[in-house]
Amino acid sequence: MRIPLAGVLVLVLVLVLVLLAACQGNGPLMTPGEDCLACHSRGGGAHPYSIAGTVYNRADAVTTEGVGGIEILVTDATGHVITLVSNQAGNFYTNEDVIFPAFVEIHRDATVRHMAPNIENGSCATCHQQLPLNGAEGRVFIAPSGS
Ligand code: HEC
Ligand code: HEC
Repeated sequence: MRIPLAGVLVLVLVLVLVLLAACQGNGPLMTPGEDCLACHSRGGGAHPYSIAGTVYNRADAVTTEGVGGIEILVTDATGHVITLVSNQAGNFYTNEDVIFPAFVEIHRDATVRHMAPNIENGSCATCHQQLPLNGAEGRVFIAPSGS
């Protein structure tokens, strides 16, 4: 069977477009710094998460400066511990059940930062935005050790 060259080219073009769309669309690296649960909650249009957010090097970072490989430990009101690791966009998320209030701690090498008030709401960016909001200093952040 012979496939015409034009047909092959069209097929390649379609594949490239599909891959590009997949990279920029909805998924693990989407909209860092945004209030994830605005959409990822019942009735929000995307499947629900209990905890989601983005972690940065500093409180006033811009959205795209998220840091990967940071551990986020959430201990819920029943003592259940969930450990999340941020991805290359700095995003972390889970749909595991969380009973609030929950204690939050983040780890980077030997550095640990914990949030003084326990959280009642799993969408970190409802308070942690570039500009201080609801008493938070800025982004969820943890500086690299030695800085
Ligand atoms: C404006 C709405 C909106 C916001 C804000 C949003 N998302 Fe999404 N997200 C979607 C939609 C729609 C989908 C595709 C449907 C789905 O998978 O639930 C999606 C899909 C995803 C997926 C893929 C789920 C899967 O199993 O395929 C992940 C992971 C994800 N989002 C993480 C996040 C994170 C983390 C944040 C915050 C930093 C976030 N999203 C913010 C709307 C949003
Ligand atoms: C209801 C508002 C609110 C929500 C939601 C919230 N925080 Fe906080 N967070 C605060 C306040 C207030 C402080 C104390 C002031 C400060 O240090 O920024 C704080 C401080 C922190 C700190 C210590 C300072 C820092 O930024 O490193 C960490 C870590 C932290 N929060 C992580 C989180 C994580 C992770 C989430 C989501 C799972 C979250 N917070 C959700 C309000 C909130």
